[in-house]
Amino acid sequence: MISSTHPAGDSYDATRSVARGPRLLAVGGGKGGVGKTFVTANLAAALARAGKRVVVVDVDLEGANLHTCLGVASPQKTLADFVAEREDDLGKLLIDTPLANLKLIAATHGNLADAQPSHLRRVRLLRGLRQLDADFVLLDLGAGAHASVLDYFLVSDDGILVVQPEPTSVENTYTFLRAAFYRRMRLAMVGHGVRQLVTVAMDQRNERGIKSPLDLLREIEATDTAEAHRFVETMRVFRPRLIVNAVRTAEDVKLGFAVASVCRKYFGIETEYLGYVNYDDEARRSVSMRRPIVDLRSDADVSIYLQRIARKLMELSPAQASVQGPAPTHTPAPTPPPAPAPLAPGISRG
Ligand SMILES: Nc1ncnc2c1ncn2[C@@H]1O[C@H](COP(=O)(O)OP(=O)(O)OP(=O)(O)O)[C@@H](O)[C@H]1O
Ligand SMILES: [Mg+2]
Repeated sequence: MISSTHPAGDSYDATRSVARGPRLLAVGGGKGGVGKTFVTANLAAALARAGKRVVVVDVDLEGANLHTCLGVASPQKTLADFVAEREDDLGKLLIDTPLANLKLIAATHGNLADAQPSHLRRVRLLRGLRQLDADFVLLDLGAGAHASVLDYFLVSDDGILVVQPEPTSVENTYTFLRAAFYRRMRLAMVGHGVRQLVTVAMDQRNERGIKSPLDLLREIEATDTAEAHRFVETMRVFRPRLIVNAVRTAEDVKLGFAVASVCRKYFGIETEYLGYVNYDDEARRSVSMRRPIVDLRSDADVSIYLQRIARKLMELSPAQASVQGPAPTHTPAPTPPPAPAPLAPGISRG
């Protein structure tokens, strides 16, 4: 999704220059414990069960646990070896999982003193992931809005945010989106002055009174129309996707629409509500049993919701597909909401 040169000098475009490799999906969400890993593992399992060749990658180097959700014992060779430059070939890190079509790159045995890859190593990682022999590569992101997490989110074909219906998760989702948005803008802008302006805007109490991305756009328009055009174009192709996890009520289900609406009004960006997953004790049990719920009990309500989202992902073009399309001459219509689905038993319509 990023289309310009990173300040550190190596172009992220390199990660996309490989002829149509696997589709890269990043699952993040800012807040810890909202179900990113659970959703990643289950979407990966659902895609694999649908016959897609899937690689799932734990990029949460400081809190790796994706392998546990998939029933893989602590692997010896992991992404940490790639980060530490002990291994260059990602293919050698692929581990079979109990599910057909699903392979894992785990992240155990990291160096906690220096867990994150350098910028250059991260670019190499992303380039390597694009070259894997798979239909889908899913990245399980860590919590927070660290630069590395933002970059995985931004360079993926689909950046998916998992949000839970509670104020803390919603707050962290906006923080994450804001950070991702400004990071992307800083990379997209060419002129030093405009980049500086984006940096100023990142401070919420900045002296120029820039409160929102739309304020920032107005400032840029006043100084540089070419950059303003780039800004609008970058805004147009930044299309995060949303999943609301652990919903218990019909009100919770609506959260996805509320977040999308705030994003449109405040950021001027379109997000897409992919769907929701109900809260279910079976989900917790499946984690204890170290098996994706879609595999353990494919008929459970929670599995039906997850499989529906996986199907939707297969049907939808990558969010960045719109990058290549001609710029619309009008504001694009909001993405239609997911078809109203019957709520699972236990979810009231109150
Ligand atoms: N839909 C759900 N219903 C019930 N429990 C759930 C659901 N989704 C997740 N959980 C529970 O929440 C726990 C935490 O989820 P998970 O580890 O996926 O969160 P995370 O966002 O990846 O956390 P971290 O930020 O620490 O990586 C899971 O182990 C599972 O027990
Ligand atoms: Mg996790």
